[in-house]
Amino acid sequence: MLKNTGFDPLGYVNRVKEILPKIYGKKPLALINTYGCQQNVSDSEKIKGMLTTMGYGLTEDVEKADFVLFNTCAVRGHAEDRVFGNIGVMKQYKQKNKNMIVAVCGCMAQQQIIADKVRKSYPYVDLLFGTHVTTRLPEFIYKRLTGSGRIFEISQDSSEIVEGVPISRDGKIRGWLPIMYGCDNFCTYCIVPYVRGRERSRASEEIIKEAECLVKSGYKEIFLLGQNVNSYGKGLDEDINFSKLLRRLNAIEGDFVIRFMTSHPKDCTKELIDTVAECKKVERHLHLPFQSGSDRVLKQMNRRYDSKGYLELINYAKEKIDGVTFTSDIIVGFPGETYEDFEKTVKLVKEVEFASLFTFIYSPRNGTPAASMPDPITRKEKGVWFNELLKVQEEIGRSNNQKLVGQTFRVLCDSIESEGLLSGKTSSNIEIMFEGSDQLLGQFVDVKITQYTNSLKGEIV
Ligand code: 5AD
Ligand code: SF4
Repeated sequence: MLKNTGFDPLGYVNRVKEILPKIYGKKPLALINTYGCQQNVSDSEKIKGMLTTMGYGLTEDVEKADFVLFNTCAVRGHAEDRVFGNIGVMKQYKQKNKNMIVAVCGCMAQQQIIADKVRKSYPYVDLLFGTHVTTRLPEFIYKRLTGSGRIFEISQDSSEIVEGVPISRDGKIRGWLPIMYGCDNFCTYCIVPYVRGRERSRASEEIIKEAECLVKSGYKEIFLLGQNVNSYGKGLDEDINFSKLLRRLNAIEGDFVIRFMTSHPKDCTKELIDTVAECKKVERHLHLPFQSGSDRVLKQMNRRYDSKGYLELINYAKEKIDGVTFTSDIIVGFPGETYEDFEKTVKLVKEVEFASLFTFIYSPRNGTPAASMPDPITRKEKGVWFNELLKVQEEIGRSNNQKLVGQTFRVLCDSIESEGLLSGKTSSNIEIMFEGSDQLLGQFVDVKITQYTNSLKGEIV
């Protein structure tokens, strides 16, 4: 049973607020290190919201920090290694500031094996908590600051959605908006279902309320997040699915756009594609991870679609959504993948002509079925395949971009690049750089693409 609970029912926020000045004699500062996906970025915005509500300030400088948190990612081994290296560095800072709290949370922390390693080998970590208890942070801080021993809390209960958590957003143009949490798909290579728990959706009313609030506060892009947004609504009492939610969000008054991620191809319906085509505020871009072009490998991955079905979906979207672009995630070197399998991935990449790709070399994850499958191809060999795929995609990207020169697009100005140029994205998620005043940040402008070298450059028309 899904439970919806309010934030901080036991009043720990106020209790921390009272004791902080006594302990630190000043406004203590917090440093949040975030790794991994947008879901983690969004969680960190809630963590910052809770911390600032309790009376912390935020800093980027570890020398000044009184609370340092690592919000971690467990999707690939490389990210885990980096986190351990960075936690190790905290020992010296902790020696200088004895009231410093060092905390670890997120997907790595949710795994017992990691919690045990931190407990044993990183004694200066005060606090470790898993993904299902993030909103209990005020309680953990209060207990640690009032004499509790080290706190390790990795409850497996993922049945709760806590609403009403304060959010301190990083940006003022793009607002992350989680619509569902967890994943039930159990792709055989993936750790996410084990560390993020079962799929659960937020009530549509809460999502609409948050979206309206973002629009009222001036946000121009609402980015809907979920491990598998297409299965939004399953398990809710209301008559809703992702397409219906998109239509309701599209109906909110105001000049803003909607993006979303991630769509699992097996749940991406024609209804959804029609919805994207019909809703003016929904951007014309689909992130549809296909992982492998080989049906044999897809079966081993437990993806539950085949390359033919995937291509049908792509072709339907190309037909219905004017100017649509696609991006995808691909894994190279899944256990048992042969060069012939890999060639099928390359073939599919050429056929679809993705705008860009997120390509990963397979990384065995403890406790997943794929980690115990025979894996005869060496890492070095996988690296060669990986580079081959990158080259193919680079060529596709170049040719796609060259075709865009001379065309004009409506672009949301969202950042300033190092060369002082403005940067923005088209509806189809293509990034263009152009000259203009920083007053234009957060505004929609028409930009004509004038050249393509390594990036697309244009001018406001
Ligand atoms: N190894 C490599 N890549 C992985 N991904 C997920 N698990 C693994 C793994 N064990 C990739 C998938 C997924 C993206 C978020 O990360 O491509 O879509
Ligand atoms: Fe992982 Fe598959 Fe779920 Fe995506 S759909 S989070 S790859 S298990």
